[in-house]
Amino acid sequence: MVQELESLLNALKGHKEMRLNSSLNLISSENILSNEVRALLALDFAGRYTSRDGFYRGSKYLDEIEKIGIEVAKQVFKAEYADLRSLSGHIATLAFISSQLKAGELIFCVSPSDGGYPGMAKDALPKVLGIKVEYLPFDKEKYAIDVDSTIELAKKLKPKLIIIDFSLILRRQPVRELFDKLNGFTKIAYDGSHVLGLIGGGEFQDPLREGAIALYGSTHKSFFGPQGGIILAEKQVGEEIDALIYPSIVDNAHWNRIAALTLALLELKEFGREYAKQVIRNSKALAKSLKELGLPIKGPEDILTETHQVYLNFDEPFMNVAFARELERANIITDSAIRLGTNEVTRLGMREQEMERIAELIHSVYRKENLENIKRSVSRLRSDFDEVQYRFSDLNLESLLDLIFKNGS
Ligand SMILES: Cc1ncc(COP(=O)(O)O)c(C=O)c1O
Repeated sequence: MVQELESLLNALKGHKEMRLNSSLNLISSENILSNEVRALLALDFAGRYTSRDGFYRGSKYLDEIEKIGIEVAKQVFKAEYADLRSLSGHIATLAFISSQLKAGELIFCVSPSDGGYPGMAKDALPKVLGIKVEYLPFDKEKYAIDVDSTIELAKKLKPKLIIIDFSLILRRQPVRELFDKLNGFTKIAYDGSHVLGLIGGGEFQDPLREGAIALYGSTHKSFFGPQGGIILAEKQVGEEIDALIYPSIVDNAHWNRIAALTLALLELKEFGREYAKQVIRNSKALAKSLKELGLPIKGPEDILTETHQVYLNFDEPFMNVAFARELERANIITDSAIRLGTNEVTRLGMREQEMERIAELIHSVYRKENLENIKRSVSRLRSDFDEVQYRFSDLNLESLLDLIFKNGS
């Protein structure tokens, strides 16, 4: 066998062993797909084109599936407009802000130092587009936007748009209060990349009903879709986005992803409420247990969390990085922030009792107990929860594979 081919297969094997068989994934920006959704990513669609102007022939079924996906997205998020073509949350941001803003205009968004999305920091995407940014006043104790200071600043600087775009989000944000007090002179948009699965499940705030003109973001964090982006908006804003998106922002939208996303949206519609409820219960249980064990859990004092995230933070960034590395050595996978996510373990069927167990395992790493023993316990816990839940279990995978490969599986 060609050496590189062998290396490729070995890396695939290594990843499967590490991430699917023996570790607990607590990265809050990731999730596990159902096998059915994952199978659709292998569709022949992965090599096809279609576009709204009908340039490519033979695309009838691709177009039909996109229409179904859009309809389901509109139902799930109670939106007048939905678009599934953004290739990622960042591209959804690009499409939305390019449709609403011109170079030189001012927006408010969340500072990365308060949990805001780094891609929208002053020197990131806004700089590329020539858009000016002021950071939103933030109440560091409540972990929420400071409404009165925001209104004061907005009256002074008159931003075109306020974008609520948290990457670290532990609680609902005051969208309704801002909307009421802004009285229409500045519009609000909500980047729901992190909390989309909770919003779709109806267990979090509902930005489109609270006054936001658009809700957009990634489809793969608390929402368990394939990696990609989605935009949901009121009709007028939707038309403005639609006029821009093709061919300026997205050409090939990866139609296998859209088919997989359509099935994931159906899963969210059917099982989202139950899933989102359990995610939030699990986060609360994990935060409480870790705090009781003496780990530095940060967050609003009254609730600690009401999302999929639990915030473990040592104040010194290098300590967070070092601890994330230690956790990784024990096969507990996190980011270096450290935002622990309960989304994936919930999707695997874990509940409050398992959160207590995970807290104990994290505590064992903190106390530098025997790594091999911890790894064994992690692996055992993972193997007890081996099947994705909140999915259509009556959908037969073999019959799906039959639709994917010419001669079946
Ligand atoms: C709030 C927010 N918006 C946008 C993004 C970008 O999403 P993607 O990685 O899908 O491009 C992220 C990524 O983590 C995010 O946290």
